[in-house]
Amino acid sequence: MEDPKARANVFFIGLMGAGKTTVGRAVAKRLDRPFFDSDLEIEARTGVKIPLIFEHEGEQGFRVRESLVIDDLSQQSGIVLATGGGAVLAPQNREWLNQRGLVIYLRANPHDLWLRTRRDRNRPLLQTEDPRAKLESLYTVRDPLYRECAHFTIETGRPSINALVNTVLMQLE
Ligand code: S3P
Repeated sequence: MEDPKARANVFFIGLMGAGKTTVGRAVAKRLDRPFFDSDLEIEARTGVKIPLIFEHEGEQGFRVRESLVIDDLSQQSGIVLATGGGAVLAPQNREWLNQRGLVIYLRANPHDLWLRTRRDRNRPLLQTEDPRAKLESLYTVRDPLYRECAHFTIETGRPSINALVNTVLMQLE
């Protein structure tokens, strides 16, 4: 008989720099599952980079595209999906993710997130004078939303990618 867990989706949520893509990709590889990243999927569908979408359509336009992609991808089964940091802002996205798979919140404190993202130029929300303060305010607003949507939370402070992947896999057993 088919193992129902083999068909369960795994969704990663968390702020920019939390490691959703890196950990998600590694988990998918270990489980031999297809991996998707909602940002890469939006770029593939539109043919343009995320910063350009923000420039032309604003954050609101980007969020519409993000919801479409999350709805589409989450209807599959057996996939691993890394979502963009703001995916949990829309209540409908939170509901889809929570109901259609196992949702893992990769949590890190704003200071570590800032250290990991400070040289990055591809995240429009961090192109401000004070990205550190921005990450703190995003954390304040979003941490409760991530917790509401997730089935469990993993702290990403010190552990290596491999240790994080093993923690995720343990939760799937
Ligand atoms: C965003 C996070 C980004 C990307 C966009 C907006 C956010 O994804 O979707 O720049 O609102 O936190 P990552 O979390 O993969 O960097």
